[in-house]
Amino acid sequence: MNFKMLAENRYSCRKFLKQNIEKDKVNALLDVIHVAPSAKNCQPIRIWTIQSEERLMDIKKITKYHYDAPLTIAIGFVADEAWTRDCDNKNMGIVDASIAGLSVWLEATELGLGCVWVSDFDVEKQKEYFPEMAECEIVAFMQIGYPDLKSKPAKWHYDKKERSKIFCEL
Ligand SMILES: Cc1cc2nc3c(=O)[nH]c(=O)nc-3n(C[C@H](O)[C@H](O)[C@H](O)COP(=O)(O)O)c2cc1C
Repeated sequence: MNFKMLAENRYSCRKFLKQNIEKDKVNALLDVIHVAPSAKNCQPIRIWTIQSEERLMDIKKITKYHYDAPLTIAIGFVADEAWTRDCDNKNMGIVDASIAGLSVWLEATELGLGCVWVSDFDVEKQKEYFPEMAECEIVAFMQIGYPDLKSKPAKWHYDKKERSKIFCEL
C-alpha cells in the first residue's frame, strides 16, 4: 500500500477476531513508534503493550471502549521530558504521543490489523489499575487485533467537512 492508500484505508476498527497477534507484528508496531519524530527529539513517550488476559481485564475496568481487542498499546508521555515552548510554556508531549498513535494506527492498517484510538477512559481508574504508568500522562489506549470479518468503517467515517471549511489559501 502506498501512503495515500494507507491513509484512505485507515478506519476505527471496533470488532476484532479472538486471535492473538504474532510477535513479529507486535514488534513491527513498536518499530514505527521508535522512529517517530518528537519535538526537539526529546522522545518523552512511554509505551506499554498489554496482551495478558489479566491486564486486558484491567483495561475493561477503565474504559467501555475496549472492544475485546487482544492487544492494547498504551501511549503516554513524561511531561518533564517533553519540549516546552519558551514563549507560552506550551508542553508538546501530547503532540509527540499523538504522532506515535497515528504511526501505530497506520502500521496496523498496513499489516492487515484493525485498530482504534481510545482516549475516553477513566483517568482516576487508570491510575489505580496501572500504577506502572504513574509518571506519565496517558494519551491513548490503542486497541488492536485482526478485524472481524464483519468489521467495516462506521457511517460517520465518511462524513467529512467540506474542504472549504478546512483549507485556506493565504
Ligand atoms: C484523539 C482521539 C480519541 C479517540 N477516542 C475514542 C474513544 O475513546 N472511543 C472510540 O470508540 N473511538 C475513539 N476515537 C476514534 C474516533 O471516534 C474516530 O477516529 C472518528 O470518529 C473518525 O472515524 P474513523 O477513525 O473511522 O475515520 C478517537 C480518535 C481520536 C483521534
